[in-house]
Amino acid sequence: MTLTVLLTGGAGYIGSHTFVALRAAGYDAVILDDFSNARQDVPDRLEVITGAPVRVHRGDVRDAGLLARIFAEHRIGAVVHFAALKAAGESVRRPLDYIDVNVTGLVALLKAMRAAGCGRLVFSSSATVYGTPEVLPVPETAPRGYANPYGFTKLACEQILEQVAAADPGLAVAVLRYFNPVGAHASALIGEDPQDFPNNLVPYIAEVALGRRPALNVFGGDWPTRDGTGVRDYIHVEDLARGHVLSLTRLLETGEGHTVNLGTGRGYSVLEMLAAYSRAVGRELPHVIAPRRPGDVAEVVADPSRAAALLGFRAEKGVDEMCASSWAFVSRRANR
Ligand code: UFG
Repeated sequence: MTLTVLLTGGAGYIGSHTFVALRAAGYDAVILDDFSNARQDVPDRLEVITGAPVRVHRGDVRDAGLLARIFAEHRIGAVVHFAALKAAGESVRRPLDYIDVNVTGLVALLKAMRAAGCGRLVFSSSATVYGTPEVLPVPETAPRGYANPYGFTKLACEQILEQVAAADPGLAVAVLRYFNPVGAHASALIGEDPQDFPNNLVPYIAEVALGRRPALNVFGGDWPTRDGTGVRDYIHVEDLARGHVLSLTRLLETGEGHTVNLGTGRGYSVLEMLAAYSRAVGRELPHVIAPRRPGDVAEVVADPSRAAALLGFRAEKGVDEMCASSWAFVSRRANR
């Protein structure tokens, strides 16, 4: 029988791409999303991509009654938990909201899973749990820390999962630490679509390319990196989605949890990403060097070897594909 996977936050950026990848791999999937950072038309677009009806429950992951109804209605064999707030800067101003949604949300989900006898969970974590990495590329064994309330919640969730799993032999958890996801599905129907101000690099560059912002503000030109700008490990969201499928499959096959980085192992600077996006758009996009952003670090790059050894996961798509697919999605949406 086909296994049904519940995707909390399944209409969001990473969730929607993972929905497509899970369906393509033969899993059934149900979405729970409150659409606070997802467009209403994402389920329709997922139906176009997958050619099948998409089942969506609208609501909050903290809603115990709703979770109980979802588990009663579907035979959920596993959960991928994306639903969370994720803007590091905003989290400094709204720490309680981040703790409530991210930590309380996880606790509510774990209780509902236990009540329903569902013991397989893939959790969306982040390279943010490494704080300021001392060793690069950063392995999963690196010390953990946090630099803002968002990072605190992701670390707290990892620790909660460790405690709960240690006490419950029926629970196996995969923790996936994402580096910097960018790009969009090849159909250009789904992609990164921030509801408000674009905080991340590629969505901001996209706004410059659309003519909505005059220039990219490069946060610091004096970092100790090859060109003075911040270096990150950008991973194509379709590669990231595939990583979830491999992780879930291993979790189901072995019944054992794992913690892995999902990155490429290659770093690109802000100016290198701007150049790649300029190639995708076909003209040079303007930038200005601005002051450093508080809380930023010079360089974060994944050691991807554990994901390769454990899951057979290797990122395949490079920055030109990331930028071209982002631009295809963004320009298509703007022209509608
Ligand atoms: N940057 C700019 N200008 C911008 C936006 C970003 O120069 O307008 C630079 C940043 O200074 C940084 C790089 O582009 O050097 C990437 O910045 P992002 O905001 O896109 O991503 P971060 O690496 O800061 O943060 C991301 C996620 C976080 C997560 C973190 C984990 O957004 O949620 O990775 O490493 F915690």
